[in-house]
Amino acid sequence: MLERTISWIDGGPDKNSAKLIDQTKLPLEYTHVIVKTCERMARAIKTMEIRGAPAIGAAAAMGMALAALEYEGKTREGLIVHLERSKRILDSQRPTAVNLMWGTKRLLDKAASTAGTVGEVVEALIAEAKAVADEDVEINRRIGQHGSTVIADGDTVLTHCNAGALACVGYGTALGVIRGAIEAGKKVKVISDETRPRLQGASLTCWELKEDGIPVTQIADTEAGLLMRMGKIQKVVVGADRIVADGVFNKIGTYQVAIMANFHGIPFYVAAPVSTLDLARKMDGVEIEQRDEWEVKTVFKKVQLSPDGVPAINYAFDGTPMELVTGIVTEDGVFTPKELLERYQAKG
Ligand code: MRU
Repeated sequence: MLERTISWIDGGPDKNSAKLIDQTKLPLEYTHVIVKTCERMARAIKTMEIRGAPAIGAAAAMGMALAALEYEGKTREGLIVHLERSKRILDSQRPTAVNLMWGTKRLLDKAASTAGTVGEVVEALIAEAKAVADEDVEINRRIGQHGSTVIADGDTVLTHCNAGALACVGYGTALGVIRGAIEAGKKVKVISDETRPRLQGASLTCWELKEDGIPVTQIADTEAGLLMRMGKIQKVVVGADRIVADGVFNKIGTYQVAIMANFHGIPFYVAAPVSTLDLARKMDGVEIEQRDEWEVKTVFKKVQLSPDGVPAINYAFDGTPMELVTGIVTEDGVFTPKELLERYQAKG
């Protein structure tokens, strides 16, 4: 079983820090980053040492706990002001994945509702951040169990980006559905879009499935349509960074995969925890993160692809309208887009 992507260190020389698998180094190196401050956690989120919506939700929660530990004042009120500032810093690192703001808000709410001394509030926040991480793994297992019902024995499933154990604390959402189907005794193969420009599909999805002995084949993003036409893909399952009333935001390129799946009559599923829902919003109200152009113009700054002076556009996510979505798998079940709204819209 894969180690947790992010965990809290309770003892030893690094007591009260967070330990992350460094996702910028995979698949060549398996190393960790020890994060001791909120500012360092913000940087780990920005640089994608940790990435994936549920994983950055847990990172955000631990970032808030680290911020609480760094507070040098004596009053509860001062601590809350300090945490509000820390929340703004963490939230501003990546605007699209709603789990980030969900994680910081959960910790801020915990601070506000905990009576007692500064020390007691800090302890409560550490416990809450650890609970966020523990719950994530449990929630993903439930997503996997529900999602396994839409996968047939013998299916080859296309996925885009990495919505696996590495994108969460453990087990994964889209890849949790694959793991759930395999645990239910089905034979499943995965085709992984490489996912330009950051290549999470090639470097992370292929890595973690290989580690788990799950059959996976990498393709260039541009091959998906051909393989669908050839009948080599039976389902598409992806994760999500934010699910709004009329669409699903996920890694750039997901939208075109959904259009191709729809054209070929292939079911397109989204797997995500309830913490990814933002149903009070619509697609045109979501800020899509734009990242530095080097990600598109080079291969990790090592190989230059286009001439100096040519600009590049680098949106990190896109929105897929709900009419292209067959079903959404949460920890509570599998829902059509209409059923999802009926069940959760009151939550806002
Ligand atoms: O930019 P990233 O790597 O953080 O984007 C990740 C994705 O788009 C995932 O599909 C999404 O966060 C779901 S993770 C379970």
